[in-house]
Amino acid sequence: MRIGIPTETFPQERRVALTPDAIAALTKAGHEVIVQAGAGDQAGLPDDQYRDKSAKIVADRAEVFQSAEVLFQVRGLGANPEAGRADLELLHDGQALLAQLDPLWKPDLVKLLAERKVLAFALELMPRISRAQSMDVLSSQATVAGYKSVLVAAATSPRMFPMFMTAAGTITPAHVFVIGAGVAGLQAIATARRLGAVVKAYDVRAAVKEQIESLGAKFVEIEMEGQAAEGSGGYAKEMGEEFIRKQRELMAKVVAQSHIVITTAAIPGRKSPLLITGEMVQGMMPGSIIVDLAAERGGNCELSQPDETVVAHGVTILAPTNLPGTVPLHASQMFARNVVTFLKELTRDGALAVDMDNEVVKETLLTREGEVVHPRVLELLGQAAATEKPRTP
Ligand code: NAI
Repeated sequence: MRIGIPTETFPQERRVALTPDAIAALTKAGHEVIVQAGAGDQAGLPDDQYRDKSAKIVADRAEVFQSAEVLFQVRGLGANPEAGRADLELLHDGQALLAQLDPLWKPDLVKLLAERKVLAFALELMPRISRAQSMDVLSSQATVAGYKSVLVAAATSPRMFPMFMTAAGTITPAHVFVIGAGVAGLQAIATARRLGAVVKAYDVRAAVKEQIESLGAKFVEIEMEGQAAEGSGGYAKEMGEEFIRKQRELMAKVVAQSHIVITTAAIPGRKSPLLITGEMVQGMMPGSIIVDLAAERGGNCELSQPDETVVAHGVTILAPTNLPGTVPLHASQMFARNVVTFLKELTRDGALAVDMDNEVVKETLLTREGEVVHPRVLELLGQAAATEKPRTP
């Protein structure tokens, strides 16, 4: 099959969906790769590196779309709601699109993909099961975001992170509080520890206590009655407003004592829980920093504004929505490995073979033969859930 890699068109997106190091696995499986000229430039991957791995480089975007049976994109329509529309007319019948498509937030755009009769797979719907870990772009990209969030905080803070004992006196270490210890949170903890900060962390899932401690951070115990927070697939379930209100009250003291607060609390497909109110920000020390990773989904901090720097009561609140895009080489490498591994699940003898009994296929497939087929997206679109019909591959 021919696999097409168009240049990303989302504003300031520097990642690319396939890196040269991942091409060998595709050619070995009998596939060819066609790349739009300049697709990897922003990630430090010039066309020559793709050519060296036997990819064909073409200047014309339309040619990539027209000649490819499978397209890889970091952000397809949905995850690229404005510029992504321009590609719609380039998509063709039976073509497979493997991309982040943000279907749970932009279900209407899934209908447009269905109209183009493509097989659209939303990579962010990959189930969090052990077998799918190597295909999970949310995890790989959250790893990058967690790491970078700490560097952004450190670069903005008026303090240094490590303790220094020097002739000019002793400098005490920064106190970092990480809220939400999923993939991004654990990586933020590890990075802040590497920089020498004193780190505390909290998560509603008590199961992560051990992981937090193994990274050298202190787990903040917050006594909450009665509710188990563990949902399905290693994600948290949504907690009631009363629970969140109580949680805020109990966390306020730790927030006030921290120089850096990194928030990563998320529930899949839901608005992020509001954990830091304006009043809590007021209680923080001047010069403190909040990095809100959840800003794209409403934010964990009441005052955060997506991709803006807000200064309130002497506290700087950062809410970058695309940190993986600021580390484009490694974020792209990880993305590419995820998507190449996923392609293997979609092929048999070098051709597309969609097996709806395969959990990773069933959970990610959005559209097929002109219809939206994903039950959750259908639900969001207010249509009756599709009755499962046996289909031939
Ligand atoms: P995850 O699902 O692995 O982790 C989220 C954690 O939040 C879970 O451990 C969950 O138990 C916890 N949580 C949920 N409600 C909570 C509450 N009320 N209090 C404390 N903890 C709570 O998600 P992941 O992959 O780590 O992503 C975290 C966030 O970072 C998401 O909002 C995601 O969209 C965002 N993200 C942001 C990026 C950026 O550049 N800004 C890039 C990648 C991810």
